[in-house]
Amino acid sequence: MHAIQLLPERARSATTEWSLGHENHYHSNRTWAWAIAADEGKGSQQLHVVYASPGAIAAYRKDGHFPDGSVLVKEVFATDSIPMKTGTVSHAQALKGWFVMVRDSKDTHPGNKLWGDGWGWSWFDAGNPTKITSTDFKVNCLGCHVPAQATDWIYVNGYPPLGEG
Ligand code: HEC
Repeated sequence: MHAIQLLPERARSATTEWSLGHENHYHSNRTWAWAIAADEGKGSQQLHVVYASPGAIAAYRKDGHFPDGSVLVKEVFATDSIPMKTGTVSHAQALKGWFVMVRDSKDTHPGNKLWGDGWGWSWFDAGNPTKITSTDFKVNCLGCHVPAQATDWIYVNGYPPLGEG
């Protein structure tokens, strides 16, 4: 048994507060992780680090919803997995890009294929960080988020800070 047992495609998600700076660069307390595979595991394919905009976590704790304007960013890293004293251990390598969601509970952008079902949805590639390369959230995102539909499409059970307080 290891302290952290993980699915291969999802190493670890950490929610921290972050803030947007100039030109979409953000400053935050980054959380770096070691992902320890289950005993028979090959290690993790990716590391995902999730950030919430300032105030979003506190607001969520009050009523179980992210307020309009809240931004969630999922940063995706490729990994390297090596045997260490703790087992098969994965750590972050190249940054692949960011999934970004912006809360818009009133669906104020009807007809825009990047907005709907209460959010703006987009992917930014690390090699081209100022351009949205996803084109249609119903095709690019929604199907995979169906298991989280009851919680406003967000996999909230991955983020212990949302349940505290
Ligand atoms: C292959 C399935 C899949 C696709 C496609 C997908 N997601 Fe996700 N997404 C997930 C899963 C599963 C999680 C949580 C676990 C993880 O990170 O692997 C997640 C987590 C997230 C998170 C962090 C908040 C949360 O719900 O946990 C954001 C933000 C996000 N996705 C945005 C998007 C956007 C925007 C798109 C489309 C551009 C998209 N996703 C496409 C499966 C997917």
